Amino acid sequence: MEKILIIDFGSQYTQLLAKRIRELGAYSEVIQYDDKISLKDVKGIILSGGPDSVYDELAPDIPKEILNSNIPILGICYGMQLLAKLLGGKVEQIGIAEYGKTKIRIVEKTKLFENIDKEFNVWMSHKDTVTNLPESFKIISKTDNGIIAAFENQKNKIYGIQFHPEVRHTDFGNNILKNFVIKICKMQGNWTLIDFVEEKIKEIRNIAKNKKAIIALSGGVDSSVAAMLTYKAIGHNLKAIFVNHGLLRLNEAEEVKSTFKDYYGINLTVVNAEDRFLKRLKGITDPEEKRKIIGEEFIRVFEEEAKKDENYDFLVQGTIYSDVIESAKSGKKTYKIKSHHNVGGLPDQINLKLIEPLRELFKDEVRSVGEILGLPKEILYRHPFPGPGLAIRIIGEVTKEKLQLLKKVDDIFIKTLRETGWYEKVWQAFAVLTPIKTVGVTGDKRNYGYLVALRAVDSIEGMTADWSKIPYEILDTVSRRITNQVEEITRVVYDISSKPPSTIEWE
Ligand code: XMP
Repeated sequence: MEKILIIDFGSQYTQLLAKRIRELGAYSEVIQYDDKISLKDVKGIILSGGPDSVYDELAPDIPKEILNSNIPILGICYGMQLLAKLLGGKVEQIGIAEYGKTKIRIVEKTKLFENIDKEFNVWMSHKDTVTNLPESFKIISKTDNGIIAAFENQKNKIYGIQFHPEVRHTDFGNNILKNFVIKICKMQGNWTLIDFVEEKIKEIRNIAKNKKAIIALSGGVDSSVAAMLTYKAIGHNLKAIFVNHGLLRLNEAEEVKSTFKDYYGINLTVVNAEDRFLKRLKGITDPEEKRKIIGEEFIRVFEEEAKKDENYDFLVQGTIYSDVIESAKSGKKTYKIKSHHNVGGLPDQINLKLIEPLRELFKDEVRSVGEILGLPKEILYRHPFPGPGLAIRIIGEVTKEKLQLLKKVDDIFIKTLRETGWYEKVWQAFAVLTPIKTVGVTGDKRNYGYLVALRAVDSIEGMTADWSKIPYEILDTVSRRITNQVEEITRVVYDISSKPPSTIEWE
């Protein structure tokens, strides 16, 4: 398959760059600078940015033959400086470092900047500067400080830019990438995630051959999509294990079973472990202790189930790009895996090879892949749900009765949000059962029941959050429905705290 090869020198934006190129309809592949490089089917090469200086003793490098390959090359930041150095130009620290928004001016007509304004803002971050061009290169853009912002060798189709076209702060960033990918590299621009799905299925089939794999399916977006993709590749050689710890939302366990086992026919084992988890949570009130216990127990149940059949070679995980934390220090390969439940490290416990088919995708792409695979929207567009589940939404000790109460309340809240079109508008919404007892009147009777809190937030990836401004009428409906339908609840409050200083979950 035709592709754009991105050689990564440790920039924090490399995967974003790959995503932008995929959005242009061009398949792109990221490799580390010291990986074995194959130029088969490569229509263009992008050298990414990176934290190093080209004159560092151990500065990352590339084999020279890449430069003589006749394939168009675009160097970004470090990539540009590396091109300059390797081709005989000069890179220096001249005391002008630029970070953030900088205005640049186009000084020479070039294909790379076709159809964009003569002056525009870009996102820069550099200490080093190209001060002398290699032979046969010319400057195509400069900053107000007179610094070389972009150069080209038109004949050999080699370009360098001292800024990041992939970030939104760069005006015309997409146009620049499009000019390179479509006009200069002549990519067709008709690649879609459907091609990704087909390729991944082939790849998994090749890796797994006739061997067996297991996955811990939680019913969340990532593990569901990873499971379906792998299922399409190896069918019943994939065994999915769904640990029902009893801390899920109302009917969730049944829904996961009916979707994956009954409807799609996946080889799924549902382990009903509610009693086991409740037993271990008995008397526990500290949130971190709850998390630890649930995490440990989860791994234990999963391991027990996996050991029933010793023949597994692979563990499939729904790790997505935001779970992969590149090590800033080495700039490569050292990454931590967030286990799919965020509550324990499955791979350490079980000696299996990993298959992570979604590693390079962003959340919206994972959802699109799920849609291509035919997964229901209810699964793909579900709010995030924490691994420890309702246990951290019941303040204090978790009991069977309290779980049942909270499931009912949460279900009323979520259904009302769906009904009013607000489910999609908020990032996450749920109810919290507090241990506070409060007086109410039900019928003519005094009723001493629980206080529940409703929480809904707007957020990007959960790092920060604003409380959602759900209209009063909707909150009113939810409150009435809860107190009418759940006798044990006598009071409903709405949480109006943002993160920070509060967290999204109450525990
Ligand atoms: P907080 O409460 O930290 O939540 O503001 C941010 C996001 O993370 C989720 N969350 C968890 N997810 N295990 C998880 O898998 C956990 O222990 C956990 N604690 C919080 C939370 O639901 C929100 O989406």
